[in-house]
Amino acid sequence: MTPTNIAVLVSGGGTNLQALIDAEKSGIIKSGKISLVISSKPGVFALERAEKAGIKTAVCERKAFADKKDFDNALLKLLEENGTELIVLAGFMCILGKEFTDKYPERIINIHPSLIPSFCGAGFYGLRVHEAALSYGVKVTGATVHFVNEIPDGGRIIMQKAVYIEDGDTPEILQKRVMEQAEWEIMPLACEKVAFDIASKK
Ligand code: GAR
Repeated sequence: MTPTNIAVLVSGGGTNLQALIDAEKSGIIKSGKISLVISSKPGVFALERAEKAGIKTAVCERKAFADKKDFDNALLKLLEENGTELIVLAGFMCILGKEFTDKYPERIINIHPSLIPSFCGAGFYGLRVHEAALSYGVKVTGATVHFVNEIPDGGRIIMQKAVYIEDGDTPEILQKRVMEQAEWEIMPLACEKVAFDIASKK
């Protein structure tokens, strides 16, 4: 079986990217190969993680393009040139337009740091998600990996894991627990699942 060609899109620290790199190395991800990492920001630590793992990198900044469509098209060009079959959004802080998502139906996955449909959609990203969970007062949160379509955080759910909120949690403490107990586990597992499905249909 030829492994699925994976590109990971990032914008920041890249701990989820690291979980994917480690999972490929340990054999948890065996149906896919990460061949490209694209960051929407220059100088982020995720790029260093990719370079250290010997993965090709590129930077595509939103502000370098007057129009959102031009940004999406530049990203598409990079992905097409690379022969990408599966796009993994791992802390990628840009919303992709319908023309983009229609080109990769059920071929784009995203990790979101809550149990969708809670605390998700436009405006809910990073620490804001955990602030919202704490201010609502929920006792259980978690992470979700889902397919990406034109609706922000609206595509079919692939995998979820719950995480308990504890007394005294701050958004930062909760973010760390959700990453450690849920994101870094389900991101590689969901990636392998989708990469396997794509590879087995080739
Ligand atoms: C992660 O918690 C991820 O779930 C979240 O951003 C963080 C990125 O961290 N993504 C979103 O909020 C998307 N809506 P990382 O760069 O260390 O992987």
